[in-house]
Amino acid sequence: MRTPIIAGNWKMNLTLAESIELVDGIRYGFQFPGEVDVIVAPPFLCLPKLVEHLRESYIGVAAQNLFFEDSGAFTGECSGKQIRDVGAEYVIVGHSERRQYFCETDEIVNKKLKAAFRNGLIPIMCVGETLEEREKGEVSAVIGRQLAVGLLELTVEEVSRLIIAYEPVWAIGTGKTATPVQVEDVHRLIRFSLSIKFGGQTSESVRILYGGSVKPSNSKELLSLPNVDGALVGGASLKAPDFVEIIKGAS
Ligand code: PGA
Repeated sequence: MRTPIIAGNWKMNLTLAESIELVDGIRYGFQFPGEVDVIVAPPFLCLPKLVEHLRESYIGVAAQNLFFEDSGAFTGECSGKQIRDVGAEYVIVGHSERRQYFCETDEIVNKKLKAAFRNGLIPIMCVGETLEEREKGEVSAVIGRQLAVGLLELTVEEVSRLIIAYEPVWAIGTGKTATPVQVEDVHRLIRFSLSIKFGGQTSESVRILYGGSVKPSNSKELLSLPNVDGALVGGASLKAPDFVEIIKGAS
């Protein structure tokens, strides 16, 4: 049995005060950890305070990105070592907005995954196709490439700790959600690719989240799919009642 994960990706939103208010709202709305792992991914500047604030709580903290070197002359970047140092446990890697606006390639994603593992962080690796790629029938080729290059040289032990988020680019922030059939198809494909490369036992242990316009009204159905082990939630994670409702649906 894989414990479901509900992760909130706050993106470039919320001040420190607002972020504290949001997690307090989540804890007020959902007081018992239950059988679900809850994670929030605030902006870098909120990480230290939020980790401190959430110590002893059931909410884990993720960074939204990291650089692949551990230190050095890389103005404006944060390393896995620094993220671990402030006490965050997880890091999102290869989100489609990073790929789209910050030119992140699969090779960079691979380096970042290695940096995350090297520093004791659990990466949430994002994969997903654009609308154009889906319309051209390239979904499996795109996902296959993102996994093949992204996971290059990772060990079986590392991959068994990995979290993957399937986020079709066309469903992110658009209000359009992939259908349950589309979601389950890709999740099954991801698990199958993992089993070929890393073995059945590893592939069965990896938690695969769906992301892209997840909200209370569609989360239950998506979370009930056999290969969906949780959700990476953007917009709806910024409202405590909506996020709580999604958590309850998973627990
Ligand atoms: P969304 O974002 O839920 O607002 O579509 C999801 C994500 O980008 O992780």
